[in-house]
Amino acid sequence: MIELKTPAEIELMREAGRITAAALGAVRDAAAVGKSLDELDRVAAEVIAEAGAEPLFLGYRPSTAPSPYPGVTCISVNDAVVHGIPGRDVLADGDLVSVDCGARFRGWSGDAAISFVVGQHPDPEVARRDEALIATTRAALDAGIAAAQPGAKLGDVAHAIGRVSRDAGYGLMEGHGGHGIGREMHEAPHVPNEGRPGRGLRLRPGLVLALEPMLIAGGTDAYDEDPDGWTLRTADGTRAAHIEHTVAITEHGPEVLTLARQPAATAAG
Ligand code: MF3
Ligand code: CO
Repeated sequence: MIELKTPAEIELMREAGRITAAALGAVRDAAAVGKSLDELDRVAAEVIAEAGAEPLFLGYRPSTAPSPYPGVTCISVNDAVVHGIPGRDVLADGDLVSVDCGARFRGWSGDAAISFVVGQHPDPEVARRDEALIATTRAALDAGIAAAQPGAKLGDVAHAIGRVSRDAGYGLMEGHGGHGIGREMHEAPHVPNEGRPGRGLRLRPGLVLALEPMLIAGGTDAYDEDPDGWTLRTADGTRAAHIEHTVAITEHGPEVLTLARQPAATAAG
């Protein structure tokens, strides 16, 4: 069943989204060469707790998972695409880091992810390729958001994401994509990262979707799961990027809910 959210519910999701964005912003600011991933996870946990929200991922257990998810964030480095568990690993110069985070506020969810590079990779060619991969992932997400108009079809969104990714020669995680979101992190519909324009569900005001392109530098769609039962890595060993926003379809168009709060205008002087 596809559930449409009321404007009052979307207002709560906007707050969950702001908190999620604030947690990601704090992780981004704290990320540096020599920092461990579990330190970064604690940064996100603190921001979410201080905002009076709850971590969305901690304890999450889909039927296929071996164990409840142990982190507040997923941190996936280099050839890890998504669902990396933040442990004691320490960031090194030139690491490509994807951080995924979610928060629940008064029962409503926000889900977002960012990708960035820490420090400077010793090989400038690798650095250049990573920046291109991240820029295309962002462009794919932006194209998906732009296509998420009331009256458009789910296939328009999927097609927009897929076309930007494929035109640049990247792979897309086979079978993985975005999702409806609301009280639950994962709600119907599934949002493929590739599709045919004009097909599928008609987008209506009140539908809220998490859009999340996951691009693989080497052009393959194949991936493997780590023995931890969570971390998904590219099968070809190349690097990956993952960027996500929670987006509400409104009568005026798409609205990104996972944006940091605009700083309040300060009095001059
Ligand atoms: N944004 C990710 C997704 O939609 C969040 C995974 S959370 C985890 O799949 F708890 F499963 F790790
Ligand atoms: Co998601």
